[in-house]
Amino acid sequence: DWTMAAYRDTKVAEIRQQVGTGRVICGLSGGVDSSVAAILIHEAIGDQLTCVFVDHGLLRLNEREQVETLFRDHYNIPLVVVDAEERFMNGLAGVTDPEAKRKFIGGEFIAVFEEEAKKLGGADFLAQGTLYPDVIESVSFTGGPSVTIKSHHNVGGLPERMNMKLVEPLRELFKDEVRELGRELGLNDQFVGRHPFPGPGLAIRIPGEVSKERCDILRKADAVYLEEIRNAGLYDAIWQAFAVLLPVKTVGVMGDYRTYDHVCALRAVTSVDGMTADIYPFDAAFLSRCATRIINEVKGINRVVYDHTSKPPGTIEWE
Ligand code: XMP
Repeated sequence: DWTMAAYRDTKVAEIRQQVGTGRVICGLSGGVDSSVAAILIHEAIGDQLTCVFVDHGLLRLNEREQVETLFRDHYNIPLVVVDAEERFMNGLAGVTDPEAKRKFIGGEFIAVFEEEAKKLGGADFLAQGTLYPDVIESVSFTGGPSVTIKSHHNVGGLPERMNMKLVEPLRELFKDEVRELGRELGLNDQFVGRHPFPGPGLAIRIPGEVSKERCDILRKADAVYLEEIRNAGLYDAIWQAFAVLLPVKTVGVMGDYRTYDHVCALRAVTSVDGMTADIYPFDAAFLSRCATRIINEVKGINRVVYDHTSKPPGTIEWE
């Protein structure tokens, strides 16, 4: 009979067979898929694996530290963290078109990754957390087969250019099975149950121009919102929840002062696969609590609104 423990053993044997004495490099995103792939591969071949995590400055609060703690301290997996914030912020200056943002981030990510791979002396294999749905449907996240609504972010083209072969140990699995395998490998429920986070990160949650200052404001608001969701016990009932920072300023009043600051939109949806989604129907008291806390605790925001748009006609992300 089929168990995740048996699957793990089979995959470990297969990875050893495939890789031999070769070197493997794995790009971590901080998400569940690439993390589970890396941990499984490390179990199979130990320090023939090196992980690379690119900090593009578009991550959520404390995300980089969480990845460092998990991989270095907990699993003892060799990890290179690249501080590329300045490079990404400089490149994003003046860019407001959503597709232009995505194209720049995807291209720059590959460039940074390639440089690091070269510094490490190259590798024979590139590991990826590709899942079964990605294999059968290599179309865009939102579109039908012939329309690209949003260009997707991955390291396409890199393996050929650098003459690397692919190691994709999750290719037969669905998302819920990856979570189960993650638990089997010792990841806790909180980690494996994390909401999806897009490759272009906070850049597509800041309509208009992205800057470090705007990312910092958004990170704080997003952390407050998610803390309230966890405290209310709602995290696992929601597919994805996040804050969006609007490039619109409105007038407010705080104490005796007039304020003129950004609007923050809150989004939360339920979904099965991300292809369609419904808004999460928070009660009004919950939303008021989030609004009050965000306005009081986050300098730069003085108004909070809730996004009531389902998918379709909206997409889950704002860009
Ligand atoms: P949309 O906004 O298209 O998002 O309704 C559907 C799901 O896909 C995620 N998403 C991405 N994930 N790279 C990713 O890895 C991307 O470029 C990307 N764009 C959207 C989004 O967060 C949601 O879960």
